Amino acid sequence: MIAVAKDLPLRLRPMRQEDVAAIAALEAQSYDFPWTAGIFRDCLLAGYTSITLERDDEILGYSIMSVAAGEAHLLNICIAPALRRQGIGRRMLDYMLDQAVAAGAEKLFLEVRPSNRRALKVYRKAGFEIIGVRRDYYRAAQGKEDAVVLLRRLGRAPS
Ligand SMILES: CC(C)(COP(=O)(O)OP(=O)(O)OC[C@H]1O[C@@H](n2cnc3c(N)ncnc32)[C@H](O)[C@@H]1OP(=O)(O)O)[C@@H](O)C(=O)NCCC(=O)NCCS
Repeated sequence: MIAVAKDLPLRLRPMRQEDVAAIAALEAQSYDFPWTAGIFRDCLLAGYTSITLERDDEILGYSIMSVAAGEAHLLNICIAPALRRQGIGRRMLDYMLDQAVAAGAEKLFLEVRPSNRRALKVYRKAGFEIIGVRRDYYRAAQGKEDAVVLLRRLGRAPS
């Protein structure tokens, strides 16, 4: 168990299959095109680094990352709406960066919708750089939306 902040009784721990229903519910509150419960179960079966944030027995956030061949890919990060803008997303991101380093990754990639300004701000503040755009990557209300591709080189301080 990892304390997220001394003054908050929040803990990070490995995600378990029995978390998936609550996580899928939080996902549905947080995204217009949410992952299904099946996608979370598949991530666990695939052995991805899957982390649950909880207080008491309440699930309040999660993050999932794959690591292979020295490259990490942050696939999802989410904090419960009531807990946002308190620095918790950043702390969770920092934890995932540490996990990526521990797993031998030299780079961490992620994709984000350009319309997700708050997430882009979190990533830029954490030292990610924009390295490209994937055209029509996401489903959108009307057609498709591009993805902005971000990279954080690991093992060096953010510029
Ligand atoms: C993205 C997300 C994980 C950020 O978590 P969070 O706990 O709110 O983020 P933090 O409080 O750590 O924010 C760190 C910085 O990001 C920026 N930021 C965060 N939320 C913001 C908002 N709503 N508006 C503007 N800036 C914001 C701020 O610059 C903040 O720094 P500050 O403390 O100086 O204000 C959270 O908003 C979330 O779960 N969103 C829904 C799921 C999602 O979009 N995930 C990302 C998919 S790529």
